[in-house]
Amino acid sequence: MKILVLNGSPKREQSDTMHITRAFLDGMREAAHHQVHTIHVIDEHIEYCTGCFSCMRNGGTCVHDDDMREILEEILASDLLIWSFPLYCYGMPAPLKALLDRTLPLSSMAMQKVGDRYEHVGQAFYSRLRHRMICRCGFPNSRFRFEPAVTRFNRRFPQGHTILTVTKSPVFTASEEAIGTKPGLQLVRQAGSQYAETGAIEAVLLAEITSPMIPEEQNAAIGNSGV
Ligand SMILES: Cc1cc2nc3c(=O)[nH]c(=O)nc-3n(C[C@H](O)[C@H](O)[C@H](O)COP(=O)(O)O)c2cc1C
Repeated sequence: MKILVLNGSPKREQSDTMHITRAFLDGMREAAHHQVHTIHVIDEHIEYCTGCFSCMRNGGTCVHDDDMREILEEILASDLLIWSFPLYCYGMPAPLKALLDRTLPLSSMAMQKVGDRYEHVGQAFYSRLRHRMICRCGFPNSRFRFEPAVTRFNRRFPQGHTILTVTKSPVFTASEEAIGTKPGLQLVRQAGSQYAETGAIEAVLLAEITSPMIPEEQNAAIGNSGV
């Protein structure tokens, strides 16, 4: 499988979210061989969409001649896109949002009704493409936190997507915890393996990964101790 990782963290490889994404990829590799390429989006030259819609009228070519042309080609040649990003103001960091906006050339102006909603008809063939969101936040629990980012992802990629949200927690940055919790990264690795084998992650495992694995107060205190 050809996997393209879009790393939205400006911290590049130092990204805590990428730490989780790498564990997920390791799990996927346990199940099968995959070709993985990571783009640190912050290093790419991606102009903002001007909203002119010329890409949707002229066969998918954007007025900007920048790195997005190559990235779109790579997206179309991939089987799985992993959108790996930290939660910024309840959404994705600006450089990754710029990239997402610039995927507009994949659609045409034509609209079709799917169920109760309308969406643009694809201009390029990419229905086999799968999307996975891996998002980490900076607080000890998930309540009232990931909803906007998750909703956007659900709407933008209504088919073939899966979502993994992870709270700030030492169990994801340490392989083994002094305080005796389950190593979170091992669970993420297991999720990667499951996903590669079946195309899905069991609800029980997802719930375990997305729930706080140590008491929230203890987690907050650990975070505050470094402030
Ligand atoms: C500009 C900015 C906005 C942020 N907004 C949020 C937010 O809305 N909610 C949240 O839980 N954390 C927020 N955070 C914290 C990051 O999500 C958190 O530090 C994350 O673990 C960083 O991941 P990374 O190392 O992959 O970049 C924000 C951080 C920054 C720098």
